[in-house]
Amino acid sequence: MTDPMVLAEGLRKSFGGVRALRGLDLSVPKGTVCGLLGPNGAGKTTAVRILATLSDPDAGRAVVAGHDVVREPGRVRERIGLAGQYAAVDEQLTGRANLRLFGRLYHLPRREARRRADELLDRFGLADAADRRVAGYSGGMRRRLDLITCLLQRPDVLFLDEPTTGLDPRGRGEIWDAVRALVADGTTVLLTTQYLDEADRLADRIAVVDEGRVIAEGTPDELKAAIGDRLDVVLEDPAGLRPAATVLHGLAGADPAMTDRDRLSVPLPSGGPRLAEAVRELDRAGVAVADVRLRRPTLDEVFLRLTEREESVR
Ligand SMILES: Nc1ncnc2c1ncn2[C@@H]1O[C@H](COP(=O)(O)OP(=O)(O)OP(=O)(O)O)[C@@H](O)[C@H]1O
Ligand SMILES: [Mg+2]
Repeated sequence: MTDPMVLAEGLRKSFGGVRALRGLDLSVPKGTVCGLLGPNGAGKTTAVRILATLSDPDAGRAVVAGHDVVREPGRVRERIGLAGQYAAVDEQLTGRANLRLFGRLYHLPRREARRRADELLDRFGLADAADRRVAGYSGGMRRRLDLITCLLQRPDVLFLDEPTTGLDPRGRGEIWDAVRALVADGTTVLLTTQYLDEADRLADRIAVVDEGRVIAEGTPDELKAAIGDRLDVVLEDPAGLRPAATVLHGLAGADPAMTDRDRLSVPLPSGGPRLAEAVRELDRAGVAVADVRLRRPTLDEVFLRLTEREESVR
């Protein structure tokens, strides 16, 4: 096992009275994608800014690409790329001119900067638009250009803060492809997102952040397995809703959710009753059932369960 490329231990950060981070721990192995998922204000951007050396923690420590972010921020910066939520490119310049400018800012030799810019424009589907001004680019094209500026210096670790917010499905798909290509080359990626499907598709592991802490961590499958399966029941007749709800409550120990006028859904705790038992009990109660299905929860349901449980503890 090699050292993690991103390691955070007990990070704390307050802004006045707001405790944005309350002991955040994180470990991201090399060449993997970690998805930081959490509701608005959970502390995701605060964590990314500390890891990218833009802000110091009040307490705790973080090591990125082998260097401490507080003691050796310069060494960390040489190894990372950061794409914030808003593209940092110059509207009045062409895509290619933007990349040359960034290449110079990064002190890349001129020939190398040009070669690298052309290669990246080609690879991320911007070759045809490279000599047009960015002012005429679509949101997705700007995002891709912004991502390319982060890649000029071949970062070992890439931080992406909500890389696809506001993009249409095609634009999101393009960013996802770009991230996958980078990871295939060995880059380690930490990305924040509000989109659960994005985390599900892209991340090897997900850290769910709430109120400045990681409240759950694992692969998407592990997170889904941890909260157990869900039982969906479709009734022959909506009149059976009430008796069916009573049966399901008895089985699951939780109130079922009505997902439609003739449908109920309830989480089944792992190791609890299974499908056959549910069918038997519904039958015994005289409930006519059109369909019963046991399924994995969606990541949305995992997220809601986790963040709601955290609230009820208070
Ligand atoms: N510079 C700042 N000054 C004051 N408060 C701040 C500052 N930065 C963040 N906060 C507060 O810290 C908390 C965490 O904010 P942060 O931006 O890290 O959340 P987030 O998880 O990125 O949220 P979002 O999903 O909305 O982007 C919030 O309550 C926010 O208002
Ligand atoms: Mg944020």
